[in-house]
Amino acid sequence: MNIQLKLSLILCLLLGGASTASAEGDDDMFAEYRAMFGDDNPAELVEMQGEELWNAERGPKKTTLAGCDFGRGAGVLAGAYAQLPRYFADTGQVMDLESRLLHCMESIQGLDVSALRKHPYSEQGQPQTDLESLSAYIAAQSRGMPVAVPQSHELERQAFADGARMFNFRAGPHDFSCATCHSQSGKRIRLQALPQLNTPEGARSSFGSWPAYRISQGAVRTIEWRMADCMRQQRLPGLVLGSKVAIDLITYLGVQAKGAEMSAPGLKR
Ligand code: HEC
Repeated sequence: MNIQLKLSLILCLLLGGASTASAEGDDDMFAEYRAMFGDDNPAELVEMQGEELWNAERGPKKTTLAGCDFGRGAGVLAGAYAQLPRYFADTGQVMDLESRLLHCMESIQGLDVSALRKHPYSEQGQPQTDLESLSAYIAAQSRGMPVAVPQSHELERQAFADGARMFNFRAGPHDFSCATCHSQSGKRIRLQALPQLNTPEGARSSFGSWPAYRISQGAVRTIEWRMADCMRQQRLPGLVLGSKVAIDLITYLGVQAKGAEMSAPGLKR
């Protein structure tokens, strides 16, 4: 069977069987809903919670996160998120915002983050996790700045190359890759327009808006959550937070999105 046909059939089943005829209408509905928010984004409240956490003395060491270096110096948040993932000499790894945050909570504050590592995202209707609020706050400190994910260290270039390979790697019961859903322009699955993420234009349209407030979930979600949820749609095993595959995929998207203006936290359907 033709892969596109197979894809549409499976996705119709997966996503509730609505015909694509209603897609435009549903999309308009979300556009309208988004317009109703105007300049307000409920993510602002989550940013404020994140700011409080950032400044709070926490953990057995009773320290703030001010000593955490996201690549632009200890405690420097302005523009830091726009340059992540990147290589960190102190850990010898390419890290993204979430893995770096957990590293700092552990090493600087002495917090036990094993529970957060296992359940990094809030359940529907539950308060946001510390990781989500801190991510929203830190990402917001890059608003208006250009995405500039570095490619100077060998491991950063490796992460990009491995991310590209993963993007095109077909696996799982449906033999899907990320590219199956995200490598053509103008494609959509029911409500959702599918960005073409293997081009600079498509990556730019998406990357700078994460983390984002998801109207349908009433919560801020991070880009690692987005990766994990798409892997779930791909029917792959659960994505481990801060794993190499997650960071490689984010690097792949971020490098292509070079120059896009950061607008996170964004607002999504
Ligand atoms: C089965 C189809 C499918 C596969 C496979 C898939 N995605 Fe997605 N992806 C979607 C859908 C549908 C959305 C939009 C979801 C929404 O609007 O709620 C999406 C959204 C996204 C977005 C966010 C776009 C935005 O709004 O900014 C990113 C980034 C993304 N996917 C990356 C990936 C990556 C990386 C992979 C491979 C690991 C992947 N996707 C695999 C269906 C898929």
